[in-house]
Amino acid sequence: MTREHRQPEVNIGLVGHVDHGKTTLVQALSGEWTDQHSEEMKRGISIRLGYADATFRRCPDTDAPECYTVEETCPDGSESEVVRTVSFVDAPGHETLMATMLSGAAMMDGAVLVIGANEPVPQAQTAEHLMALDIIGIENIVIAQNKIDLVDNEIARENYQQITDFVEGTVAEDAPVVPISAQRGVNMDLLMQAIEEEIPTPETAPDTDPQIQVARSFDINRPGTTFDELMGGVLGGSLVRGRLHTGDEIELRPGREFEEEGQSEYRPITTTIRSLQAGDDLLEEVGPGGLLGVGTGLDPSLTKGDALAGQVAGPPGTLPPTWDSFTIEVELLERLVGGDEIEPINTGEPLMLTVGTATTVGAVTSARESECEVNLKRPVCAQPGAKIAINRRVGTRWRLIGIGTLVG
Ligand code: GTP
Repeated sequence: MTREHRQPEVNIGLVGHVDHGKTTLVQALSGEWTDQHSEEMKRGISIRLGYADATFRRCPDTDAPECYTVEETCPDGSESEVVRTVSFVDAPGHETLMATMLSGAAMMDGAVLVIGANEPVPQAQTAEHLMALDIIGIENIVIAQNKIDLVDNEIARENYQQITDFVEGTVAEDAPVVPISAQRGVNMDLLMQAIEEEIPTPETAPDTDPQIQVARSFDINRPGTTFDELMGGVLGGSLVRGRLHTGDEIELRPGREFEEEGQSEYRPITTTIRSLQAGDDLLEEVGPGGLLGVGTGLDPSLTKGDALAGQVAGPPGTLPPTWDSFTIEVELLERLVGGDEIEPINTGEPLMLTVGTATTVGAVTSARESECEVNLKRPVCAQPGAKIAINRRVGTRWRLIGIGTLVG
């Protein structure tokens, strides 16, 4: 069966503690109820970012929330109408994967915070992910109180109270809390209604220069591929604005590292778009929303193993500057998730910084009260004013300590 292609128009992050049910929820909304996206699910889309599309539909002549469905046929036999296609970016809940979560956040227009009803609130990554949303400024949030099939009424109410106490004073303070069971498909209609109300499709001016935040990059050739059959490097990421076409020329920044007389320098790379893939579909033209696979004319050895992850792509001459060092205005959190007070940043200390989809380590060359200068190990391409998540090494891992704004 051919199906009409629907490019997703909004990217929704699924965040929360490990095992609270993010992946199960994506499956419930995108794959398990209908065959429509099963192929995408199986392939996990070639850009493997824990990602799936779901088309929200509504049944005519039915009131909300019951009207919301992902089925093409309504219970009364009528055909449902498409509301919109959304793209879920499934953030890993494990503590060691915070950097992945933070760079994924650069592509989120809103988020669903999944909280298991069967555990006390908050678990560590429930708190840390919410803090990350707060810091990055993702304000459109829905809370899914999952696994309600595992608890009785009283515990569900207690857990609900814990959730509302916990989010008080945060960016999720006014977020609706929707009790669901992702595994059993309970209250999916209510959740869809909340997503429709809280996470609108971002408005994007179609005539602005396109810009891709690159989250992954690949060499898709199998070992032993002959030269004639060799495919160019593939970029995986999100078009944050504008429109792209096959045949367009793009520049990537910071680009590629060159070593000359012991000095390393990054130079922009230019290439042509050979293919555009959204889900299973190869398209001639794409707009913002969802994750894309962008086939290029680049030597695949340049894109292998995420080598270009964190870069920015767009028409030559339109991209923000590249920074080897920069000054950031710093706003530290009071405490780490888990309690310890956060000390001021010191000159000389290493920091892990997430800027857009880029993660880079830098050494602080000068730290003042509310600003610090940082020398970056790998440069980043970003606009002054960009938000930067600041992580410090505490024990064996990087912990989120605050938010920075790129001054210049
Ligand atoms: P990470 O991606 O590792 O962070 O985990 P996750 O949040 O994606 O959790 P996942 O969806 O993998 O679910 C974890 C376990 O909880 C699985 O065994 C699911 O079957 C189970 N689970 C998820 N949702 C529900 C639910 O609504 N009810 C019950 N009883 N189990 C659920």
